[in-house]
Amino acid sequence: MAFTIAIDGPAAAGKGTIGRALAAHFGFAHLDTGLLYRATGRRMLGGLDPIEAAHSLRPEDLEADDLRTPDVSQAASRVAAIPEVRQALLDFQRAFARRAGGAVLDGRDIGTVICPEAEVKLFVTASDAERARRRHIELTGKGHEVTLDEVAQDLRDRDARDSARATAPLKPAEDAVQLDTSSMTIEEATERAIAIVTAAQG
Ligand code: C5P
Repeated sequence: MAFTIAIDGPAAAGKGTIGRALAAHFGFAHLDTGLLYRATGRRMLGGLDPIEAAHSLRPEDLEADDLRTPDVSQAASRVAAIPEVRQALLDFQRAFARRAGGAVLDGRDIGTVICPEAEVKLFVTASDAERARRRHIELTGKGHEVTLDEVAQDLRDRDARDSARATAPLKPAEDAVQLDTSSMTIEEATERAIAIVTAAQG
C-alpha cells in the first residue's frame, strides 16, 4: 500500500536528517530529491546542457562526493528554476512517492507538486543562523574549506531563488504541518515528526 511522507522546507533546515530517520523508523524508502538537482547542476558545471543532463542522469551521478559544496548548491538552484529540468525529473519522483511499502521524499515541492495527495506533509524550518551553523559543521567535517559567511550566503541566495521562481516555488502546502527545528536536537525533531506521522496513520 502507498503511504507518502512529503518533507519540504528551505536549505539545511534538517529535512534530510528527519527524512532518513522517519524512513528507518517506519521501514519506508527515502529519496533526497535535492540530489537530483545537485547532480544535474554538477553535470551542467561540467559543460552539459542542463535539460540534457536531467534527462540522462545515472544512479552513479547521485553518489559524487562534492554534491554539497556551495558551487554545486548554486548550480542546483539555477537548474531547478528551468521548467524542462523539473519536468524531466517529475515521473521518477512521482513513481517513487507512490511505490508500495511507503516512501519519504524531501525537497521543495513534494507536498505541492510531486505528491499533493501525500498522507503526511511536513514543512521543516530553522532560523537562518542555525541552518548556516549546521551546514558549516557538515561541510567542514567532510574536509571542505568554506567559511560560515560563505555558507550563510549560499543559503540566502538559494532560498531567495527557490522561493521566487515561477515553477514549483518553495512554499508550504496548505495542509502541511510546520516544524521549526531551531531549538530542537535531532532526537527531539525526529520524535516530533514520528508522532505526527503516527497520528496520521490512525
Ligand atoms: O535540498 P537541497 O539543498 O539538497 O537542494 C538543492 C537545490 O535543489 C535547492 O536549492 C533547490 O533549488 C533544488 N530543489 C528543488 N526541488 C526539490 C529539491 C531541491 O528545486 N524538490
